[in-house]
Amino acid sequence: MIDLFAEIARLKQEMNAIILAHYYQEPDIQDIADVIGDSLALAQAAAKTEASVIVFCGVHFMAETAKILNPDKLVLLPDLAAGCSLSDGCPAPQFEQFVRAHPGHTVITYINSSAGVKALSDIICTSSNAERIVRQVPADRPILFAPDQHLGRFVIKKTGRDMVLWPGSCSVHVTFSERRIIRLKAEHPDALVLAHPECEERVLRLADHIGSTTSILNYAITSPAASFIVVTEPGIIHQMKKARPDKLFIPAPPDNGCACNECPYMRLNTLEKVYRCMRDRQPEITLPEDLRVKCLAPLQRMLEMSA
Ligand code: 13P
Ligand code: SF4
Repeated sequence: MIDLFAEIARLKQEMNAIILAHYYQEPDIQDIADVIGDSLALAQAAAKTEASVIVFCGVHFMAETAKILNPDKLVLLPDLAAGCSLSDGCPAPQFEQFVRAHPGHTVITYINSSAGVKALSDIICTSSNAERIVRQVPADRPILFAPDQHLGRFVIKKTGRDMVLWPGSCSVHVTFSERRIIRLKAEHPDALVLAHPECEERVLRLADHIGSTTSILNYAITSPAASFIVVTEPGIIHQMKKARPDKLFIPAPPDNGCACNECPYMRLNTLEKVYRCMRDRQPEITLPEDLRVKCLAPLQRMLEMSA
């Protein structure tokens, strides 16, 4: 039996690779990563790395973003089938029609989207900078926001800015049950509720803090509270427990007792697949150069606007 941890460390050295991992990856993957972060932090890390190879432990749109920023680097995704329901729910041909039906609108697109959709956008955003980016768009300019309607509605509420929304949602975050969170709150009256803005409004109404995965993690670490109900993918709890072993983190349950609060796409990546993709230098992310160039401008605009 090979020691996957040792082999990955050896290959990393040999290939001059950096391993980027999202908080929703299984704990073993988080533990071998050079950078663990939310979508924005990982895009920023990809933009500045000097490594020759990027091993992206996350989902396809994240690795694709890394490739858009690094056309000359090898970008590996341990499982090419690691997609995203939000991205899948917004196909580029339909999105193009939607954009055409709203002429004059500034198109702000959540990073959870395909390259084809990014190429039709003016500015990309993530859950951690969406509000900040919307606030920077001149007040007389109408905005079209896609593809997550719940994040969009949350930003409308925060900024008071009306926006046209693409009717998409994350299949994981909409499974959280309002009823069961209320019951958990009754069982743990001192626990604070931390939620990701991809959740439905009726769930967000129960939250004490709403933010990106990094924002939720930082809040849990620094808050004086000792227990938290975590309403996002439970992979993040690994970092919460590491940083604050003295605190209690309770994963919010979905509606029917299934494990569907785990993102089925993120969880396709395993430590063994990380090892194999490094050994075989594939699956590799590729995209046509003309499409990459079209995606680069809205992505760079995001990086500038969140600096
Ligand atoms: P973050 O922006 O918090 O990383 O969220 C990404 C995501 O896919 C949430 O489901
Ligand atoms: Fe996409 Fe939802 Fe998974 Fe995030 S949790 S990667 S939005 S399917």
